[in-house]
Amino acid sequence: MGSALVRGWLKNGLNNISILTPDTPPKNITGKCQTWFTSPEEIHQDFDVIVLAVKPQILKNVCESLTSIVKDTTLILSVAAGKSLPVLAEYFPKMIPIIRTMPNLPASIGAGVSVCISNSQCQKHHIDIAEMLISSVGTVEWITDEHLMDAVTAVSGSGPAYLFHLLESMTKAGIVCGLPKELSKKLARQTIIGSAQILDARDELTATQLRENVTSKGGTTEAALNVLMKNDVFSTLVEEAIKSAKKRSEEL
Ligand SMILES: NC(=O)c1ccc[n+]([C@@H]2O[C@H](COP(=O)([O-])OP(=O)(O)OC[C@H]3O[C@@H](n4cnc5c(N)ncnc54)[C@H](OP(=O)(O)O)[C@@H]3O)[C@@H](O)[C@H]2O)c1
Repeated sequence: MGSALVRGWLKNGLNNISILTPDTPPKNITGKCQTWFTSPEEIHQDFDVIVLAVKPQILKNVCESLTSIVKDTTLILSVAAGKSLPVLAEYFPKMIPIIRTMPNLPASIGAGVSVCISNSQCQKHHIDIAEMLISSVGTVEWITDEHLMDAVTAVSGSGPAYLFHLLESMTKAGIVCGLPKELSKKLARQTIIGSAQILDARDELTATQLRENVTSKGGTTEAALNVLMKNDVFSTLVEEAIKSAKKRSEEL
């Protein structure tokens, strides 16, 4: 997610970025950033914003290792799933401005959707800089009830993977129905891409209206939907999956 955000920022001309990562930097962003660090000890400068994009499991250690470079005015922007503002605040020795955000993978191509929440140390300029950073990689929503963040994580944070799995399932079904593998993959892929573009182009129509518009009485689409919608089987499965992601976010 860190490299997805950096790719989005670089694409938008924001290149005053330093990256701290213990490993070899990803090839597609090497050389374009101002500075690379492999350990916090190498850092002897101040930053307006520090973005935390490590796994939640190691976040506490990473925050503790950053203590000497976090000033009172440094904005901490965390993308870590499940780590609440009070928990994040405990990882630093003093009260500092923190914004928690949940972006998603399409941020890497400027088509993400992110939800943000700020702590009481944040002033207007902190909110503005976070809005600028996050809106440069997609759309931004702000919430004030942090409990909603687990559901946000489950719907949009993890959401791209559900669509990739739908693509896998449609491709597999096409092959079972006799299509050559490559053709099935192309058809399923372009169907998802094209349908997403229709959602965008015809935003005055709801998903229900779009579905009804392509479902002729007694036709092939209706035959498939009769299976998917029988006893709400598909939406129940999606609900179960999203509840499970929400529960995991709560546990983290
Ligand atoms: N993936 C998503 O779609 C998504 C969506 C929303 C939010 N998030 C959140 O984004 C965060 C990162 O998730 P991810 O899926 O991007 O994980 P990831 O692919 O494992 O990326 C984590 C990065 O942190 C680096 N790292 C490890 N230890 C570090 C340290 N001590 N200091 C600095 N960098 C360190 C890792 O380097 P190495 O490869 O060398 O270990 C890796 O480049 C998580 O908190 C997750 O909840 C992810």
